[in-house]
Amino acid sequence: MSKVLIIGAGGVGSVVVHKCAQVVEVFSEICLASRTLARCENIRKSVKERTGRDIEIAQVDADNVAETVALIRRFNPKLVINVALPYQDLHIMDACLETGVDYLDTANYEPPDEAKFCYKWQWDYQERFKAKGLMALLGSGFDPGVTNVFCAHAAKHHFDEIHYVDILDANAGDHGHPFATNFNPEINIREVTARGKYWENGAWVETEPLSVKQSYDFPVLGPKNAYLMYHEELESLAKNLKGLKRIRFWMTFSDNYLKHLEVLQNVGMTGIEPVLFEGREIVPLQFLKALLPDPASLGSRTKGKTCIGCEVEGVKNGKHRKMFIYNVCDHEECYREVGSQAISYTTGVPAMIGAMMMLTGKWRGAGVFNMEDLDPDPFMEKLNIHGLPWLEKVMA
Ligand SMILES: NC(=O)c1ccc[n+]([C@@H]2O[C@H](COP(=O)([O-])OP(=O)(O)OC[C@H]3O[C@@H](n4cnc5c(N)ncnc54)[C@H](OP(=O)(O)O)[C@@H]3O)[C@@H](O)[C@H]2O)c1
Repeated sequence: MSKVLIIGAGGVGSVVVHKCAQVVEVFSEICLASRTLARCENIRKSVKERTGRDIEIAQVDADNVAETVALIRRFNPKLVINVALPYQDLHIMDACLETGVDYLDTANYEPPDEAKFCYKWQWDYQERFKAKGLMALLGSGFDPGVTNVFCAHAAKHHFDEIHYVDILDANAGDHGHPFATNFNPEINIREVTARGKYWENGAWVETEPLSVKQSYDFPVLGPKNAYLMYHEELESLAKNLKGLKRIRFWMTFSDNYLKHLEVLQNVGMTGIEPVLFEGREIVPLQFLKALLPDPASLGSRTKGKTCIGCEVEGVKNGKHRKMFIYNVCDHEECYREVGSQAISYTTGVPAMIGAMMMLTGKWRGAGVFNMEDLDPDPFMEKLNIHGLPWLEKVMA
């Protein structure tokens, strides 16, 4: 029985709260805190209607460490689940260190003024978490998160050596808007417009944004154009998977999404440098976020499925082997269960399961951990139980 503090009342936060509320034997008390209290209030009402459970809510600016520390001291949780934005990661880790509480997130730190993410900033907390006997679990979403666990599962059960990994993320959902992003538009567009990058033979290879594509035949969804992108789990997996020769990440985009993105980029709407407008500075990408549909509002109108998985190639008992480990998730089913679309759902469920692993002691340790550092078996078992069943297809 454990108290958990969830920070961030967005699309993902809503799923995390609903899923934690379903597992009363682990999450005995839940507090949801965020910048805008009204969003917490809406989620509180939905959780009450769907599960009958009462949760606490609070207003917090998680960039203000003292405020977060005061909230943690007042609620006294065993774990803080950070599903605010990547900008808050280090501030919330600082608050956890100060109060002696474990930490979990779904996305690695990104400085607000530079479209760059990497684990270094958070890996630098290793000694401080170790010294206090605290655990920080990084990237417990789907990708990163489940994709790392799929790789650990492949290494443990199916391969003696893994040589090649391709992570493939397809969303065949249709929300009916001409253009919208499935999660926070600012974070999403920063990620998609960045240069591509993959790891091969011990070195990083850079590509122009979205310049490399393949048609991949996804289970259930069929062939889709998938574009090579840099994604944060590549950094930890390239370091942690021994014997690896190459790892890449691919995401599907519709031609319509890419057409809108190209125009927005060409006119400067995706920029993160402030520009002067009617006497005040505005950041174009933040202004664009204000115009685009709120990702949390897409749930009721999105139809179709997602498929995310890892194609892993290597050697078992001296023989070549290739397989695809994946999940297929249906937008409408997610909406019926928790009132959110599948992108928030596929992130929120693994955050809840990661928290469950830590709170039940299945995953324990002092320091900063990536998902593949830990035993994949109990996590894989819970995916099947809590809404993200996985399948394996042997390809060779
Ligand atoms: N690993 C994965 O598979 C995966 C996939 C998708 C997303 N993610 C990550 O999940 C996280 C949440 O994404 P989302 O789509 O839910 O985003 P979102 O809908 O924009 O929600 C973010 C929430 O955080 C709150 N917030 C922002 N700054 C805050 C602050 N300083 N203090 C307190 N609360 C603050 C926002 O408050 P307001 O309501 O006031 O704006 C909002 O409610 C992001 O880090 C994203 O990168 C991970």
